[in-house]
Amino acid sequence: MTLGPTEWQARRIGVRKWEEEHPGIPRPNEARLDPELLDNGDTRNVVDAYRYWTREAIVADIDSRRHALHIAIENFENDANIGTVVRTANAFAVDTVHIVGRRRWNRRGAMVTDRYQHLMHHDATNTVFEYARSQGLSVVAVDNTPGCVPLETAQLPRRCMLLFGQEGPGVTQDAQDLAEMTVSIAQFGSTRSINAGVAAGIAMHTWIRQHADLSRAW
Ligand SMILES: C[S@@+](CC[C@H](N)C(=O)[O-])C[C@H]1O[C@@H](n2cnc3c(N)ncnc32)[C@H](O)[C@@H]1O
Repeated sequence: MTLGPTEWQARRIGVRKWEEEHPGIPRPNEARLDPELLDNGDTRNVVDAYRYWTREAIVADIDSRRHALHIAIENFENDANIGTVVRTANAFAVDTVHIVGRRRWNRRGAMVTDRYQHLMHHDATNTVFEYARSQGLSVVAVDNTPGCVPLETAQLPRRCMLLFGQEGPGVTQDAQDLAEMTVSIAQFGSTRSINAGVAAGIAMHTWIRQHADLSRAW
């Protein structure tokens, strides 16, 4: 069975030092390779194509093909889902994740993926909207409040910022008023809402299905 490049849990994670992995083959003389990783092995949570690469080289490579998709998440009450959102944004080569409100967030769920993802902080909702305007991005709020457009049938803008709320209050009224539209994810059970990190994954993937070049996926 051939393993896919992201099936990193299915076998020993990562690679050992270069000489053990490639006996008798001299080390490649490439600036993108990190001498320390070549010396010690590379067990980072990165796809196999990036084994032994420096962090800077990995970021530069993703930068060359990032999507016109930005993510914003409100963090006025210290939301625990931001790590999950960052990790998913990294997986989809999102341009930048914008944290709105508190600067501090719990990095645990990010599983170190924040090292390869551009992050930007904004003190207030209006500054993230100013940023979006300056970059020609349409802001789409994601929440299940009355009058929302169903995400399942919405056409998302190509140059897009998806904005998520936090557990409890949801997307602030200010943000919903300023957004081009608010989209909701259809639910059928008893719960009032789904986890913000899960909602972010569903919405990001909707954008990917509509706009990404799938032939460039790993
Ligand atoms: C747990 S929800 C809280 C707010 C929600 N409006 C409520 O009434 O409980 C936190 C965030 O997750 C996202 N979310 C959760 N369920 C959603 C759904 N069905 N549709 C769209 N977004 C959702 C939104 O971004 C929302 O602001």
